Amino acid sequence: MMTISRLILSGLIFGALVLPGVAPAQPVIGNADAGQKTFEARCATCHALEPGRAKKKGPHMQGIFGRTAGTQKGFRYSKTMRQSALVWDAYTLDNYLYDPPHTMKGTSMVLKTPEPKDRADLIAYLKTL
Ligand code: HEC
Repeated sequence: MMTISRLILSGLIFGALVLPGVAPAQPVIGNADAGQKTFEARCATCHALEPGRAKKKGPHMQGIFGRTAGTQKGFRYSKTMRQSALVWDAYTLDNYLYDPPHTMKGTSMVLKTPEPKDRADLIAYLKTL
């Protein structure tokens, strides 16, 4: 018993001392209102919020969160997006938006969002659509 609780205790201390150094950065919690502003400023020229008659360069964003990438009917995606089989969630969006041509070679969207706070806000907003 003694040994086990010591092990647990040292594990806790070890974890507390060591893990913060190696764990990935704290996830940034997004703000949907800020994300909406960023979306309007940076994304809305190419992305509509819902299906509509206005043809934009990019696919609409309605229900994007949880959708399989490249599956919106009637939009001509790049081959790489169509074949990615990616599902849009906080992680895949964060990766893609960071640097689309780098994280998905051959994608036809080139706009980068290098700032983690901007991506977190955008993702929080996209979730609401
Ligand atoms: C200059 C036009 C343009 C801008 C600006 C733009 N996008 Fe895109 N976006 C596209 C195109 C084109 C595609 C399709 C990419 C492909 O097929 O490879 C796309 C695809 C996407 C997808 C995947 C959609 C799907 O149906 O799977 C997401 C998510 C996305 N964009 C989010 C954003 C966000 C968020 C912003 C703003 C930070 C943004 N885009 C800015 C043109 C743009």
